[in-house]
Amino acid sequence: MTTPSKQEIIRNYDKYAHWYDFVERFPELLGLNRVRKKLFREASGNVLEVAAGTGNNLRHYPKDCKITLIDLSRGMLKRALQKAGKHKLHVSIQEMDAERLGFSDNTFDTVVDSLSLCTLKEPVEALKEMSRVCKPSGRILLLEHGRSSNERVGRWQDKRADKHAKRLGCIWNRNILKFVEEAGLEFISRKRYFFGIFHAIKVKPGQV
Ligand SMILES: C[S@@+](CC[C@H](N)C(=O)[O-])C[C@H]1O[C@@H](n2cnc3c(N)ncnc32)[C@H](O)[C@@H]1O
Repeated sequence: MTTPSKQEIIRNYDKYAHWYDFVERFPELLGLNRVRKKLFREASGNVLEVAAGTGNNLRHYPKDCKITLIDLSRGMLKRALQKAGKHKLHVSIQEMDAERLGFSDNTFDTVVDSLSLCTLKEPVEALKEMSRVCKPSGRILLLEHGRSSNERVGRWQDKRADKHAKRLGCIWNRNILKFVEEAGLEFISRKRYFFGIFHAIKVKPGQV
């Protein structure tokens, strides 16, 4: 499968940043926003959100959380910063690669990722990094999309996966649960939505 390089992902997301929230409004209204709210209100303490994009989870975090957002795209993070201002939140924002996090081991109480394991070049490495920077008593919260558990829908995704991945690198038929297992993370809860395409997952970090 041909997917964009990291440089191309940055360039493409920098350009797409202006449209991202508008385009995403449709799935958000169909119920994605409700799933975000339910999952991310469970965040607590020192929170890291990786590949945070335009900050669509910000409004769901409890007000007393200390929040750090990272993403490769400066354009996406600029939008997140504006949203943080709108919600009167103090967030720290850094351009950083999710696959090589520049934080010490056991730093965060909650690590969050949403809708990004589809795009990351090395999703299992990224999950291991999330696990490394999460305190052993902490939680990793994932809202992801992947191959449907409905076989007909899954086959439809398979047929169109190449075409879909070309521009933004989103491989929409990935096996998300397998990545979580390969990264050595322990499931606390998992739930699937919308023909089993979306996953809301709560895990414990693995052994560092
Ligand atoms: C589909 S958007 C999801 C944004 C946001 N998490 C959300 O739920 O709306 C994917 C994001 O992943 C970012 N991204 C892709 N590869 C990355 C990497 N290796 N490290 C950090 N961010 C990355 C992109 O820049 C983009 O903002």
